[in-house]
Amino acid sequence: MSWIVEEEGFDPGRVTTNGNKYMLGNGAIGYRGTLEEFDKDQLTATTLAGLYDKVGDQWREPINAPNGLSTRIVCDGEPLSLLTANDATHKQTLNIRNATFARETVFLTASGNRIELRTQRFVSMERLDLIVMKVEIRCANNCDLLVHTGIDGDVWDINGPHLEQYEAAEKEGVIGISAITHELRRTVAVAEGIVTDGEFEQACLKDDKTIKRAISIKCAAGVAYGFTKFVSVRFGEDRESVSDEAFASVRSAVSVGYEEHLNRHERQWERKWEQSDVAIEGDEEAQFALRYSLYQLHIIAPTASERVSIPARGLSGQVYKGAVFWDTEMFMLPFFLHSQPEVARNLVMYRVHTLDGARRKAAEYGYRGAYYAWESQDTGDDACTLFNITDVFTNRPMRTYFRDKQVHISADAAYGIWQYYEFTGDESVLLEGGAEAILECARFFYSYSYYKDEKLRFEILDVTGPDEYHERVNNNAFTNALVAKTIEIALRTLDLLEVKHPDEYRKLMEKLDYGNDLANLIRLFDDLYVPQPEADSLVIEQFDGYSKLEDVDLASLKTRILNKNEYLGGGNGLATSTQILKQADVVLMLHLFKGRYSREVKRANWEYYEPRTEHGSSLSSCIYALVASDIGYADWAYKYFLRTATIDLTGDSKQYVGTLYIGGTHPAANGGAWMAAILGFAGVHYEDGVVRINPSLPEQWQSIAFPLRIRGQSFNVRVTRNEVFIRAEAGNRSAVTFLVDGVHELAVEPGTSETLSASGQERGDGLAG
Ligand code: BGC
Repeated sequence: MSWIVEEEGFDPGRVTTNGNKYMLGNGAIGYRGTLEEFDKDQLTATTLAGLYDKVGDQWREPINAPNGLSTRIVCDGEPLSLLTANDATHKQTLNIRNATFARETVFLTASGNRIELRTQRFVSMERLDLIVMKVEIRCANNCDLLVHTGIDGDVWDINGPHLEQYEAAEKEGVIGISAITHELRRTVAVAEGIVTDGEFEQACLKDDKTIKRAISIKCAAGVAYGFTKFVSVRFGEDRESVSDEAFASVRSAVSVGYEEHLNRHERQWERKWEQSDVAIEGDEEAQFALRYSLYQLHIIAPTASERVSIPARGLSGQVYKGAVFWDTEMFMLPFFLHSQPEVARNLVMYRVHTLDGARRKAAEYGYRGAYYAWESQDTGDDACTLFNITDVFTNRPMRTYFRDKQVHISADAAYGIWQYYEFTGDESVLLEGGAEAILECARFFYSYSYYKDEKLRFEILDVTGPDEYHERVNNNAFTNALVAKTIEIALRTLDLLEVKHPDEYRKLMEKLDYGNDLANLIRLFDDLYVPQPEADSLVIEQFDGYSKLEDVDLASLKTRILNKNEYLGGGNGLATSTQILKQADVVLMLHLFKGRYSREVKRANWEYYEPRTEHGSSLSSCIYALVASDIGYADWAYKYFLRTATIDLTGDSKQYVGTLYIGGTHPAANGGAWMAAILGFAGVHYEDGVVRINPSLPEQWQSIAFPLRIRGQSFNVRVTRNEVFIRAEAGNRSAVTFLVDGVHELAVEPGTSETLSASGQERGDGLAG
């Protein structure tokens, strides 16, 4: 039960939300959970990771490839579609264990026939260009069925059209469409091959952007008729070879067949769940929501490429320009680091490959080093525009400072690279460009900061922190703390290289001409101002002057809203002159540096900022859950955990701003759900070579069990209300010591397990396995 998302009946109002909720994907392709008879009006999409296009001066966004699953059925002249059917029963399911989507629809025709339609589809996790679908039709009475199935190139675009010069072709039974992207002239090719269960009459129909088969089936009452579609979706430079590859891929897929492809796909998924599944006892809702969140992360994780990362809306469409934000490093990376470090490696290497874009951005603003794109795409140049939001009152673009001033993005990128190194011990990322990226980020911060002679300290002025409602502020505590961390990381990187890789150290220092920078970094590290808790209240001021802003409560602020879509930040936004913040800011800092602050400080700040936070971003709730767990506010932690874990199941998030669709999936919240469960409730924390476990399970949970990878060693952990159990895999290199509740040390030898009970008693089984 805990693996199936399902829905009975058809509600046209849920078509868009269900497109997200029932999505399939494999990190290279995202296929929205729409039905076969749908088209661009229902936002069907085959989103490609890493291929972007720009038309005129509109936003650059990812490509939506022609839809290879498009299928329409006509029964005795009557089209069958849930969009027009008066009388139909419908059920759709997504099995998140093996990532398959299925529908079962029964259409009742005007002439009294009853047509059962069943389909099952998956986006192969084994062959990343491949989508496969099986279709079965059965009629109660004899009838003539006409099935139009093929490739629909008339796609949904937000700022398109991105594809042009369509060419359709049919070769030895395989049909295909190729087109060229508007800006970079890349080829996108989709080919489709079909295997039918019987001999049917077939014709090939082409028009401007589509190629279809018209299959005529003389249906005998009660007999099942079916076919399987194999669709390859590819892109690349050379039109001819990309198209040929798509055709060849389809041919080979056809020869392998549906069942075998499904088996291979399922094996990949089994492995994913082995590496990452979290089992919660005592709470079905939480169990399901958390698994579903992990499913969403798996379908968008780049398993085979370090040239792409995960966009803020995953692969659910072109929303948010398909851009990669800090969401990846700060909200998704932890899940991959602890379960699939090879994916984490791809994510951080993406920042290495986009370093030149970050250098260009720093130079553009007159700084040295690397200033990463706030909204990053293929090259690392910033896709964020200066006027990124439209004012609902004037319909004019508003000047925002996300691109210019959210400097913490460079700290987030450096932090991500270093986290990868710390968690895995894998130095290759540092040697293959990670060290260079870190040093360039540190250099950027030196060049951005100001030294105040009268205060004898460096300050970071004119920035926007995580709370986007307050732009261009001075000494944002979060930003300053992360800048300090970046400098520390840079200094540690240099130490590591100098000691362990002296040749690389020398080459890099020379290449970057870093001699003077080293001294600068040390000065910045020593003298950087990081806002501290205020003596009486223990509250850390979010930025200089924040406490002097109007202290209105959130409910009152909301009564001032005139238009439900109005933006609360920017120059005139309602929150700008108040203490209401968009999302976790100081509280996020308390999570990241949890070891540095006392419980009293964390409590004081959580209590101060929680009622003032609007949670206008899906990145906020999980952080409040994490810190709530840390300070013993279990009920609050649970409430915020559920909010973050259910976001893509309920679809309760803003879908449109004006006419602009801003919905889609929320991978940062999905990653946040994992963080709240494992780093929060189970209390796992790895830092400076020590793995800590400080559990604080929600009341209704009897236990939580999960796999854990740390520095290349694998464990299974189970935390109950009165025990912590850890099993180390036999293949581990050496014993690892876990520090439970801050006092009990559990050293777990490879191939053995250890249990610590509430009384503090330790038991080892000494057994292999
Ligand atoms: C948030 C950012 C986030 C972006 C993409 C914005 O609403 O304020 O922190 O990076 O959405 O998810």
